[in-house]
Amino acid sequence: MDLRQQPKRATQGVVTSRASLLQRLNALRKRSPFSPYWMERSWLRRAMEGLSHHASGRMLDVGCGERPYAEFFESRVEQYLGLEYPPVADNLNPDVWNQPELLRSLVDVWGDAQRLPFADASFDTVLAAEMLEHIPAPDACVAEIARVVKPGGRFLLTVPLIAPLHQWPFDFYRYTPKGIEAIVERHGFEVELITPRGNFASATGATLSHWLVRSLAASKLHHDGSVALSRWRAPFVLPLVFVTQVFFWICEHLSNDTAASLGYSVVARRKLSASTK
Ligand SMILES: C[S@@+](CC[C@H](N)C(=O)[O-])C[C@H]1O[C@@H](n2cnc3c(N)ncnc32)[C@H](O)[C@@H]1O
Repeated sequence: MDLRQQPKRATQGVVTSRASLLQRLNALRKRSPFSPYWMERSWLRRAMEGLSHHASGRMLDVGCGERPYAEFFESRVEQYLGLEYPPVADNLNPDVWNQPELLRSLVDVWGDAQRLPFADASFDTVLAAEMLEHIPAPDACVAEIARVVKPGGRFLLTVPLIAPLHQWPFDFYRYTPKGIEAIVERHGFEVELITPRGNFASATGATLSHWLVRSLAASKLHHDGSVALSRWRAPFVLPLVFVTQVFFWICEHLSNDTAASLGYSVVARRKLSASTK
């Protein structure tokens, strides 16, 4: 990947293929250990299920993307609003981006997380799932979230730690637990919970699987960090990815070293009398 390259629209999501049957098979593959995202995906779903227990009232999902976790929250809150930011959302799967009807069902409000189009204390809960790393000025974003969350309300955050560059060039940061604590506390939140997603074994398995796909199974590395699979090499490499994923999934269950992990899930509470910077 040429890190200096300018953004262009991806021709497809994470992996491209031409025929629709292939696309359907590809969608199935992405949910299986044949995908290097398998462990991350299942950890994220578990994390969201856990975070949903802390959601209430009026909720904003900042950088909602394709709204993949709405199912966990909608039954627990009074209102669930998804916000997306056009300049970056243009990097989303064009199958979604090019369908205005579908887009309208996913995104309620268009705006920038660094200047949220809402009044102070409008929400009981704000979710920022895997988006803070895409914000060039994360302090501005967390300050805005603090502004729109009611005192006593919750900020639910997930961030990746060990993950390849993605949505390039809109990928700016990785956060450690201390980094998360520092940034949310700077803006008047207190951390209630920081939980790693997976551990060293999961991070190693995911990284090795990404490497296998990128170096041995890819016919093209896209500008945004995603890959197109080679139809000739992928059938030989994906079984290796499967074995790698399952092996490291077993290792994950046998170890508890969290010096590396896939990422973190965070519950933070807006202080009742917060002085924010
Ligand atoms: C990795 S995706 C995560 C999407 C979704 N939250 C999920 O977990 O599947 C990051 C999202 O953040 C959005 N984003 C990036 N910069 C943003 C900004 N300044 N304001 C609002 N959303 C932004 C992107 O458009 C993208 O949908």
